[in-house]
Amino acid sequence: MAERPTARIAVFPGSFDPLTNGHIDIIERGAKLFDRIIVAVLTNAAKTPLFSVEERMTIIRENFKNTPNVEADSFDGLVVDYARRRGASVLVRGLRGISDFEYELQMAMMNRHLDPAIETVFMMPAEQYTYVSSRLIKEVMTLGGSITGLVPAGVESRLRKKGSART
Ligand code: PNS
Repeated sequence: MAERPTARIAVFPGSFDPLTNGHIDIIERGAKLFDRIIVAVLTNAAKTPLFSVEERMTIIRENFKNTPNVEADSFDGLVVDYARRRGASVLVRGLRGISDFEYELQMAMMNRHLDPAIETVFMMPAEQYTYVSSRLIKEVMTLGGSITGLVPAGVESRLRKKGSART
């Protein structure tokens, strides 16, 4: 996509294991604010993911195939280094409530220490997603609860397949 030389590029980094409707809400808001938003999946997370990085990027692409300024990518190492490499000046993070704030503030300040030219922008999802997290989605699914309306259909069906593969 052709971009102005001063295009405002944002990176939305995260684990996205899996993508939830809360993430989608934030990405849609970001796509309206920035010329481009790169949804960047962390590859070297210590925790063992349920979905592979490829699966997570495929899910993001599936959900944003009609939004040309949303891109899915993966990264390793420091997020500020990745952002700089991609010409991004903004890191987007979602804030669901006060409980997110302390961890997010620490990360934002550390990232500012590492690269003062990169600004963190916090965005709040729609109210109905303030209790949705990837961790709880996996737990509820494993225990047989309903996650309909909280994740995209493609995530729900993949989770179901993974669940049935285990039993
Ligand atoms: O969705 P998550 O798991 O809360 O996302 C955390 C993430 C990926 C944003 C964070 O762990 C991260 O940026 N990791 C990359 C390593 C890094 O840059 N660490 C220093 C920043 S505080």
